[in-house]
Amino acid sequence: MAGNIYIGTVLSNEAAGENFYWMRVRVAPLFETPVPGQFVMLRIAGLNEPFLSRPLSVYAFSRRGHDASVQFLYQAVGKGTQILAGLMRGSQVEINGPLGKGFRISDLRKNVVLIAGGIGIAPLSNLLETLAGRKSVSSVTLYAGARERTALVGLQRAKRYCGRLCVCTDDGSAGRKGLVTEIFRRDMKKFKPEDTSIFACGPPAMLRALSEMLPKGEFDCQVSLEEKMACGTGACMGCAVAVKGADGAVAYRRVCADGPVFNPAEIVWD
Ligand SMILES: Cc1cc2nc3c(=O)[nH]c(=O)nc-3n(C[C@H](O)[C@H](O)[C@H](O)COP(=O)(O)OP(=O)(O)OC[C@H]3O[C@@H](n4cnc5c(N)ncnc54)[C@H](O)[C@@H]3O)c2cc1C
Ligand code: FES
Repeated sequence: MAGNIYIGTVLSNEAAGENFYWMRVRVAPLFETPVPGQFVMLRIAGLNEPFLSRPLSVYAFSRRGHDASVQFLYQAVGKGTQILAGLMRGSQVEINGPLGKGFRISDLRKNVVLIAGGIGIAPLSNLLETLAGRKSVSSVTLYAGARERTALVGLQRAKRYCGRLCVCTDDGSAGRKGLVTEIFRRDMKKFKPEDTSIFACGPPAMLRALSEMLPKGEFDCQVSLEEKMACGTGACMGCAVAVKGADGAVAYRRVCADGPVFNPAEIVWD
């Protein structure tokens, strides 16, 4: 799973809010159309500082004839993402992808619930767009949570593709007040487990809370994990997470190559 490395050209890189940015990168026509939930490893072409690429989810992808572009929504949290935030139109980036196994969408149940914590909205937006117009899906509900109002990003586009949007913030500065998992827990009885597929992305504590509140094995649930990554292609084991092995023993899976999407019931959350 080494992926394919391309040189992409930054078409735009704009602020999306405090510390949040949209970036659109033109990629080679050969760049494979990503499955929702897949990501790329991105770095500035020719710059070895920071040495390692950073993983970013595909927020949106478009292809028109020979023109292909990938859009990212990212938060500048440290050195690598701050350097990305300074890129100008025309800058060149090294982009390896699409990588990882995305969301399984072949056997969806009729109600789809997406739960996004903060920047976790990025891969779920691409999923929302892909689900739009699917006849087998009768309702799509997005729960989008963040610490506070200014950290609620990427919802304009998401709104177009979901039937119902439930916004919440930890401090109550926008939407319902409370953790997104708590807000979902209050609404959970509206969704019959056997009719509902859940997709979630957000911080580990949020995904763990979600996993613990779901009745065992009743909902079809997939979560996308965000781990620190070095190679992004399965070679270094730097992103290993503990899972429950078949015989009850702990086994390890690479988030980059075996994920980033997992069944939360499989994960050893401690
Ligand atoms: C599959 C995948 C998809 C991702 N998609 C997106 C996305 O679409 N948008 C986005 O903004 N971010 C995304 N991330 C997280 C992003 O990769 C990290 O924020 C980034 O690598 C941090 O690099 P840095 O050099 O800026 O920060 P660093 O200086 O390396 O770290 C700054 C802080 O961020 C934390 N951090 C570093 N790497 C990660 C990580 N991989 N996950 C969570 N916390 C991390 C560190 O512990 C530290 O607290 C994704 C991560 C993964 C694994
Ligand atoms: S980051 Fe190297 S194996 Fe996943």
